[in-house]
Amino acid sequence: MENSEEPMTYFRHNGIIFCSQLHKAERLEELKDFNIDPHIPVLITYPKSGTTWMQQIMSLILCNDNDSKKVINLYERAPWMESVRFKLESMDYQILTTHLNYQMVPNCVKNKMFKIIYVTRNPKDVIVSSYHFHEYSRFLEAPKNFQDFLENFVEGNVFFGSWFEHIRDWHSHKDELNILFVAYEDMKNDLQSVVQKVASFLNKKLDEETLESILNQCTFKHMKENPKTNYKSVSDLFNFESGSFYRKGITGDWKNYFLVSQNEWFDAIYQKKMGDFPLKFDNM
Ligand code: A3P
Repeated sequence: MENSEEPMTYFRHNGIIFCSQLHKAERLEELKDFNIDPHIPVLITYPKSGTTWMQQIMSLILCNDNDSKKVINLYERAPWMESVRFKLESMDYQILTTHLNYQMVPNCVKNKMFKIIYVTRNPKDVIVSSYHFHEYSRFLEAPKNFQDFLENFVEGNVFFGSWFEHIRDWHSHKDELNILFVAYEDMKNDLQSVVQKVASFLNKKLDEETLESILNQCTFKHMKENPKTNYKSVSDLFNFESGSFYRKGITGDWKNYFLVSQNEWFDAIYQKKMGDFPLKFDNM
């Protein structure tokens, strides 16, 4: 029997699934009129696309002494604007992060005054990363199996809704915004070029020493071991006995999960929904 005392894991707002432990409808509504200083860059991603990695890159570009003892956790330097865990009014953040779709972000960011970075990732790798994320996150329901998760993902029945709509929608507004699209796969292939591109977008000049220090602090190994970036202390949200936030950090891991039939099915759907989409993904 259903226990009415038990909190529901999910709720829908504007048709999109949110997690009760992190989000409230009221906050999502209030956010539309939330005022942000236009000097604060906004990082937008669909979950599991390399958000934390880009938060670290941006944060280090904006302030390269992030390894000092004074420095707070990365998620406090770049909080999620939609999460009720953060009281933005009393925080001294450098960056604002969001997984929200275009309709739901604060109205104030919808112009060229704000610098927006949108990180994309091959959707098949997003699916695999998200599948594992659901296994160790306490605010998400563990998937029944990979097939079931894949179907839910394609239908947009996962937190933050449809990957297809998220990326298409943001991309369709690119000409009205000051937005830089960065691919996770490019970060893997040539991180130095991506860091330089992001720095130039944020109007920051990096000398060689700073660039080298940023690259060192952005490696998978460094971020996995660094208590300020590895989420190890956030045990109320994650059960790290069931998985790791810094899982593999590679591209093409989907090949270890998708059956040939699942891959063919997904490719056909992808072609239908995204065939005309101008951004292409490596390792599909
Ligand atoms: P995997 O689960 O495929 O390993 P997000 O921050 O949006 O939740 O994305 C998490 C994904 O980014 C995880 O992917 C994680 O390993 C990967 N990631 C985080 N930091 C990384 C880094 N420095 N280098 C490569 N991948 C990284």
